[in-house]
Amino acid sequence: MSGSPEASPPAAGLASRQAAVAILSQVLRRKRPLDQAAAEILAGSSLAPRDWGFARAIAAASLRRFGQLEALLRTFVPKTPPPHKAGPTLEILIAGAAELLFLNVPAHAAVDAANRLAQADSKAVHFKALINAVLRRVAAEGPSVLAQQDAAALNAPDWLFERWIANYGEAQARLVAEAHLAIPPLDLTLQALDDPYTDFNAALRLAPGRLRLKDAGKIENLPGFQDGRWWVQDFAASLPAMLFSDVAGRTVIDLCAAPGGKTLQLASVGARVTAVDAVSERLALIADNLARTKLSAHLIAADARDWRPEAPSPFVLLDAPCTATGTIRRHPDLPWIKSAADLVSAESLQSELLDAAGDMTAQGGILVYAVCSLEPEEGVEQIDSFLRRRSDFARSELSPSETFDRTFITPKGDLATLPFYWAEKGGMDGFYAARLKRLL
Ligand SMILES: C[S@@+](CC[C@H](N)C(=O)[O-])C[C@H]1O[C@@H](n2cnc3c(N)ncnc32)[C@H](O)[C@@H]1O
Repeated sequence: MSGSPEASPPAAGLASRQAAVAILSQVLRRKRPLDQAAAEILAGSSLAPRDWGFARAIAAASLRRFGQLEALLRTFVPKTPPPHKAGPTLEILIAGAAELLFLNVPAHAAVDAANRLAQADSKAVHFKALINAVLRRVAAEGPSVLAQQDAAALNAPDWLFERWIANYGEAQARLVAEAHLAIPPLDLTLQALDDPYTDFNAALRLAPGRLRLKDAGKIENLPGFQDGRWWVQDFAASLPAMLFSDVAGRTVIDLCAAPGGKTLQLASVGARVTAVDAVSERLALIADNLARTKLSAHLIAADARDWRPEAPSPFVLLDAPCTATGTIRRHPDLPWIKSAADLVSAESLQSELLDAAGDMTAQGGILVYAVCSLEPEEGVEQIDSFLRRRSDFARSELSPSETFDRTFITPKGDLATLPFYWAEKGGMDGFYAARLKRLL
């Protein structure tokens, strides 16, 4: 049982592995997001950028399969020594096992590298013999232990897997968890949806203006990046901004807008977009994206709970911050850094943001609420409770002709995608969106 390699070992193999172990420590012990930890550690390392891919691939595979790898290691070492004594011993073991079982690295290379990593650490060095012995067993016996494991259940923390079973039923919960095990493809949204773009011969055309690439490599090196003909956006993430009718020449307030995928979508169809985000550094990402695509929007750094436009707007989009459990395929660290407490705090922020967004919507106007979460508390339950407290709003149900697949429409008329939808084409992120109309 092995995954397709995300990248093969570069010449700078030991330094890449050292970086991977450091990234894993930051994610698993400090609960820092993988993207953040990797960016910081790789930029501060001696590794050339061309070798960053292998370090990231080890860290990502270790996290994507963390539950399975941990259970496997436990069969060989029932109790791994604590970090104050053993330093990064656990991370070296997890990363080594990930290389052996999921990155197709030959046993001698992975075990030898793990030994050298242990040798280089003042604490892990005391566990070098253990690391060596365990990884040899992983190389020999790992595939048969893995074959007996329940990969879907092990790679999702219990609190998440249990709530998916409660909310979607066992069969769908398994499909969700299984979808998280595959390395996701790269999706692009074209600036002009009717662009007969032919630079990507191997791209799958998911829908007008939506391309899907496998093994895309560095985004900046892809054709068309510099001239801004497209931006990276999961197919499902491109659906909420399409729920407005014709917005050309109209004002759209885009709340919680960074890094700006939906801002670009709206600007590219001619909307006059005001994009608001609380984090200025993230707002800078929208500015970069706008400059690259030669689109424009008015950018405002503000907390959307407090900021108000000069006049209510006919169109408001709120893409609220959330636990992001719909994006675990792209962020395999999420299950190991988020907790049930994060869900509770996200919920209260979302309801405050919804109230503010409601106040910004003009009479007769449309408010679209979206989250990249699988948790109903952040999706449909937010909308149901908003509609209970705001009788001046009503659901504007989606009709099947408005989306690409009627499976995306819920019985209440909202939009909901799950990671295993269109599995044969490579799946999609889990998204929820509702369209509301202000009546009074
Ligand atoms: C899910 S992301 C938005 C993704 C974006 N709409 C897109 O399509 O690229 C959520 C964003 O909400 C922002 N945010 C969080 N709390 C906020 C608040 N109180 N007011 C405004 N923005 C906030 C975060 O900085 C983050 O950029």
